[in-house]
Amino acid sequence: MPGVPVPPAVVTEIQRQFNHELSAAHAYTALATWCAERNLKGFARFFHKQAGEEREHAQRFMDHLLDRGVMPELAAIPAPRTAFKSVLEAVQHARSMEQLNTAGIHQAYEAALAAKDYPAQVAIQWFISEQVEEEAWCDELVARVEAANCAGGMSSLDRHLEKILNAKSHDGGAED
Ligand SMILES: [Fe+2]
Ligand SMILES: [Fe+2]
Repeated sequence: MPGVPVPPAVVTEIQRQFNHELSAAHAYTALATWCAERNLKGFARFFHKQAGEEREHAQRFMDHLLDRGVMPELAAIPAPRTAFKSVLEAVQHARSMEQLNTAGIHQAYEAALAAKDYPAQVAIQWFISEQVEEEAWCDELVARVEAANCAGGMSSLDRHLEKILNAKSHDGGAED
């Protein structure tokens, strides 16, 4: 038998949030597919793993409702973004999705606080901590891709300078 009934405002928020988690899974699958098509197999694997985690998050919210006698309602999932100009744009998209997700979880938590729904508060706290980790890896991934872009640009500039310096050394003017 269900214990504390779930206040309607909290049901609405948890419904919205688990459907959002499912749409995040869909979006990560699209990111993984985009990377796989470019032979970025590491990125593709990473995004597929994220998609699986988002589905687990959705299930965790659905289980919370089920445990409390509420039937979760699955909504239509919008088509995810499938085109990106660069790897940097792809990882920036992942980061902005996670930031949106954090905002959604905080909104759900506020509803649970306002309704004095202690079981939902405890359940949502897990997600609050999870989002700290999710945002941290996103920031790291964006920074690493930015650094890789810089390193690529830097090494071609390095080769270019080497050519100039080599040419100059023939007439004794190697210093810049
Ligand atoms: Fe999630
Ligand atoms: Fe996530």
